[in-house]
Amino acid sequence: MTAASPSTPLRVALAGLGTVGAGVLALLQRNLPLIARRAGRPIIVTAVSARDRQRDRGVAIADLAWEDDATALASRPDVDAVVELIGGADGPALTLARAAMAAAKPFVTANKAMMAHHGLELATAAEQAGVPLKFEAAVAGGIPIIKGLREGAAANSIAAVHGILNGTCNYILSRMERDALEFSDVLADAQALGFAEADPSFDIDGVDAAHKLAILSAIAFGSKPDFAAVAIHGIRPVRLVDIHQAAALGYRIRLVGHAEQAAAKLLQRVQPVLVPLAHPLAAVKGPLNAVVAEADHAGRLIFMGAGAGAGPTASAVVADLMDVARGERGPAFAMPVAQLVAMAPADPSERQARHYLRLRVADRPGVLAEVAALLRDSGVSIERLNQPAPDADGSVHLMIVTHLVAEWAAGAAPGARGGRRAVLAPPLIMPIMEEEQFA
Ligand code: HSE
Repeated sequence: MTAASPSTPLRVALAGLGTVGAGVLALLQRNLPLIARRAGRPIIVTAVSARDRQRDRGVAIADLAWEDDATALASRPDVDAVVELIGGADGPALTLARAAMAAAKPFVTANKAMMAHHGLELATAAEQAGVPLKFEAAVAGGIPIIKGLREGAAANSIAAVHGILNGTCNYILSRMERDALEFSDVLADAQALGFAEADPSFDIDGVDAAHKLAILSAIAFGSKPDFAAVAIHGIRPVRLVDIHQAAALGYRIRLVGHAEQAAAKLLQRVQPVLVPLAHPLAAVKGPLNAVVAEADHAGRLIFMGAGAGAGPTASAVVADLMDVARGERGPAFAMPVAQLVAMAPADPSERQARHYLRLRVADRPGVLAEVAALLRDSGVSIERLNQPAPDADGSVHLMIVTHLVAEWAAGAAPGARGGRRAVLAPPLIMPIMEEEQFA
């Protein structure tokens, strides 16, 4: 990257002109004078690539150079920096990222899947090329969580990060609670509102949140991004009856991405969790995202805002471009790649917590005794037990809150069905976040 005089614009190529790409063009058009004053130079888009040139995006692109093949953007002489908004862990997005590094062009992306899977390779290539690799928009949309951790909290050791990292899941869980609806009734609405991933299973099965958590962990703990080590459980098994039960106990169910250092190991997990009503994450409703970081000197840091959508995501993309325009070149994961360590994964199922268990059982004499025996045999002590009215098929749900126990033990008890016929379906197990975690 060559040094630019203050008046020389940063010339940008945009690959992908969906909601976010159009949002970036609109933001740059609207706020350009302010952006130029803050960044020290204007930022202009000179070239674009997308699937369909004719589509009406609500922003003018006729004056911009067009490439059918996004990869060609990286080698254009009228492009100083490349923005990738195509999506997907591999394919054209990754090809473009590699091409940008090969051409020594700064690279900005909103692509969490690619950064979770290939972040280390790309950070290494960026260092070798001497160019910035920036991905604020990849985690929690408009929330400046990457900057917050990498810059604002840079002097702190971070003990844990936990966050609501998927707006679709949070919208679904919030609507189920507010409107007493079942999961399947709300999913279609979330998709219609436009913040669900193209493949909704990425949202509801926790994969999207896990991509973001793997990136956050690397920044927070100085570890090599390790998506494969994230234990992932989505929200599909959560039913309205669980939401009601959690509420009765003083909790809200949230899909929480949680990462913490445990001894020399790194625990990374995405899972529905019972969050106490007084915890900041319980207050996050609808499609919002939030991240809580426990910093050793700054203390608890809470970031909250829109995790998706044109404006918020464009805001993060353009903030990264402003850093590029200023010539900032900090390492992608907050420290040089050579300093990142490969942390052994901690087994989340060993983590001690109180757990919420829902068991679907036959409504016949002796079942409760059988379940109690299963729990006793696994050393699981019951703190509370509730049995609402039977389902239409005659089966009943037993809701159990355990005392402190490792998750594997809570799951092993009802899972050990053997010849016994008490438990009719795989149990739903959710850890309960404790008050001390935010005291
Ligand atoms: N599908 C994501 C979500 C949006 O629902 O949060 C961007 O990551």
